[in-house]
Amino acid sequence: MGDIAKILIPEIIFGVNSINKAGKSLTQLGGEKPFIVTDEGIIKAGWLEKLSKILNNANLEYKVFSKITQNPKDFEINQGVKLYLSSKCDSIIGIGGGSSIDAAKAIAIIATNGGLINDYEGANKIRNPLPPMIMIPTTAGTGADVSQFAIVTDTKRKIKMSLIDRSLVPDISIIDPFLLTTKDPKLTANTGIDALSHAIESYLSVSANEFTNTMALNAIKIIFKYLRRSVANKTDLYAKEKMALASLQAGIAFSNAGLGLLHAMAHQVGGLLDQPHGEIDAILLPYVLEFNLIACTEKFVNIANVADEHIKASNTRELSYMVVRLVKELCVDLGIEEGLSYSGVNESNIPHISKNALSDFCILTNPRDANEQDIQNIFQKAL
Ligand SMILES: [Fe+2]
Repeated sequence: MGDIAKILIPEIIFGVNSINKAGKSLTQLGGEKPFIVTDEGIIKAGWLEKLSKILNNANLEYKVFSKITQNPKDFEINQGVKLYLSSKCDSIIGIGGGSSIDAAKAIAIIATNGGLINDYEGANKIRNPLPPMIMIPTTAGTGADVSQFAIVTDTKRKIKMSLIDRSLVPDISIIDPFLLTTKDPKLTANTGIDALSHAIESYLSVSANEFTNTMALNAIKIIFKYLRRSVANKTDLYAKEKMALASLQAGIAFSNAGLGLLHAMAHQVGGLLDQPHGEIDAILLPYVLEFNLIACTEKFVNIANVADEHIKASNTRELSYMVVRLVKELCVDLGIEEGLSYSGVNESNIPHISKNALSDFCILTNPRDANEQDIQNIFQKAL
């Protein structure tokens, strides 16, 4: 008999023009006045205007909060909560990338539970039910629209806090691939590699199960097949649809199986230097894979086989190493910078961020034990 698996997934509305369902979905959840959490980029791209029209047509009043930056910060959450409470909203819509969605979740926590966001760092700290939440992702990568995770930067400690709770799974996730057509190639590449890292880390996780493995392997297959196309052409709606599906499956996989050392390390760089999460993930991914390889060679073989169905090798070891090569080649093709030093990491930062990575929640599900020296070595190689 296998282990018991528990799977949490929101209601998912998937497809081109599914954003049109936002008003009806909110009404179904009992929401009458949503608080929209977004960022300036989404407003410029015209997606807030589109959402506003849909809500107006459904006779719904709303309030907009757009003071969210990349890597949402504790003080931005405080500002959002104040506005949520003073505008007497009763529900939340997050529209944007991972930052807007994570911020929307964090605002929801404080709105009904009080206190400060730092109080909820870690797992299962939320007591009261959250307001109804709908998430509308505009990047194929984050997975935040389906996950029980929210990541918020503690600006005093300069670290990214992982908040994990079943109530952080939104009620409804509306995934409209057409919303991906305004992303620039760099963001498409970075968020796509983030989705790949979610799929790979959740597949290698010690908490993985057959359900999450199916999701993760399928996401890996799609990303290797369509991410290049999606980066190359903004309006390739077929590739966008495939990437939206891969991001969704990777999100479901990591939400239920956990992540690993890569995210434990990437969170520290993001917290210290406020760099885009996907970019750091992409730089670190091959090095963390090299480190993890001996813990689960067979799983690496499976990844190699779905990443490239024509791949051939003379033995299992060679085949498993090909995963590292395939990931590196993908990053090169997408024009992703080679070293962490491009993202502003100095040698002097390494002891501090390595120590903090050890206490990040994501490290708990990594397949290979890693000590501080191991982490320092990986950062050093990735500089
Ligand atoms: Fe990530």
